[in-house]
Amino acid sequence: MYNINRNYLKLPGSYLFSTIGRKSREYQSTHPEADVISLGIGDVTQPLAPAIIKALHEAVDDMAHAETFHGYSPDLGYSWLRETIAKNDYEDRNCDVTADEIFISDGAKSDSGNIQEIFAQNQRIAVCDPVYPVYVDSNVMAGRCGTYDKAAERWSDVIYMPCTADNGFTPSFPKEDPDIIYLCYPNNPTGASITKERLQDWVDYANRIGAVIIYDAAYEAYISDSEVPHSIYECEGARTCAIEIRSFSKNAGFTGTRLGFTVIPKEIERDGVKLHSLWARRHGTKFNGAPYIVQKAAMAVYSEEGKAELKEQIGYYKRNCRVIMDGLKEAGYDVYGGVDAPYIWLKTPGHMTSWEFFDRLLSHANVVGTPGSGFGPSGEGYFRLTAFGSYENTKEAVRRIARM
Ligand SMILES: Cc1ncc(COP(=O)(O)O)c(C=O)c1O
Repeated sequence: MYNINRNYLKLPGSYLFSTIGRKSREYQSTHPEADVISLGIGDVTQPLAPAIIKALHEAVDDMAHAETFHGYSPDLGYSWLRETIAKNDYEDRNCDVTADEIFISDGAKSDSGNIQEIFAQNQRIAVCDPVYPVYVDSNVMAGRCGTYDKAAERWSDVIYMPCTADNGFTPSFPKEDPDIIYLCYPNNPTGASITKERLQDWVDYANRIGAVIIYDAAYEAYISDSEVPHSIYECEGARTCAIEIRSFSKNAGFTGTRLGFTVIPKEIERDGVKLHSLWARRHGTKFNGAPYIVQKAAMAVYSEEGKAELKEQIGYYKRNCRVIMDGLKEAGYDVYGGVDAPYIWLKTPGHMTSWEFFDRLLSHANVVGTPGSGFGPSGEGYFRLTAFGSYENTKEAVRRIARM
């Protein structure tokens, strides 16, 4: 008789975004005249840049002829893409990362969810609170987080590192030493960034206690502050303790096209075993390579034409950030983030809970956002708006919120 993985049953019910979707649909069905604007889910809205579309068309044409047809791609990615990433994202920023330390994948969600597989069952994970939920849920599925306390919204075996306005949304070192530390900067959901100095402290700490840092840099392209590192490998010693995860979703609009990568330096090892070889084995066994067409499209991200077009596209979303930040500040809200990340994190007014504010925003301004408490207990009393909407919708949403 087969048995199921009962760890899945421990996961608390309704997923944040399905609840938001249900509430929005219910509101719309009872108010069919309402023009509801969503600044909720972190999905992009601008079309793929022309250079990327051109590369996609050319790659599709390649697939039409036997001489240029491509079947399975190499498990770890085409060398031309890995070399281009190594040059542009690392060498040009004085980071020591080689092409064979880069693993191409179908996105940062898969990698950040799967990476826990190469670690032992008894590992203690530390996460920021609030947090991108994938880090915790993937460890719960693997049976690594203990039991869930519904009232406290916490797992017994997870080390939570609160990130609030008081600490500038960067955590302090935890009291107990973790084995695996998940950090995401620029941050989803708080929109905060981390200075190089502070990130260096984390790298030193991880090396000191023998922990590994999983550094999710999915929003790197939004950094504008020169003090903010684009990669953890800008820090000394990161090659012995840090894995970095990147995505093409938010820098190039690949949320529906799918591509990302993970960097594992060959220096990270435990008991003579390199994490690099474990991940290569895992990738080779469970992943059959990202599509040729999509990897070709990613090459266009690094072309001169592509870079210029994407700078403009990111500028478009960053303009939305400014509209939200300025408009809400003027309306008296306490707002955070929005400078190096496409997320604005605001304090709910009048001590409203995050969900109370959600309901109020939906009914009074017909705007949908994301309740901060959905990302962890320290997110209570906060609310996330994204800059990924159209400029017109963003302006209109802010106008309505300010009038509330
Ligand atoms: C922090 C973070 N990591 C990873 C992802 C997922 O990226 P991808 O689309 O590459 O799977 C997201 C998406 O919202 C995210 O916010």
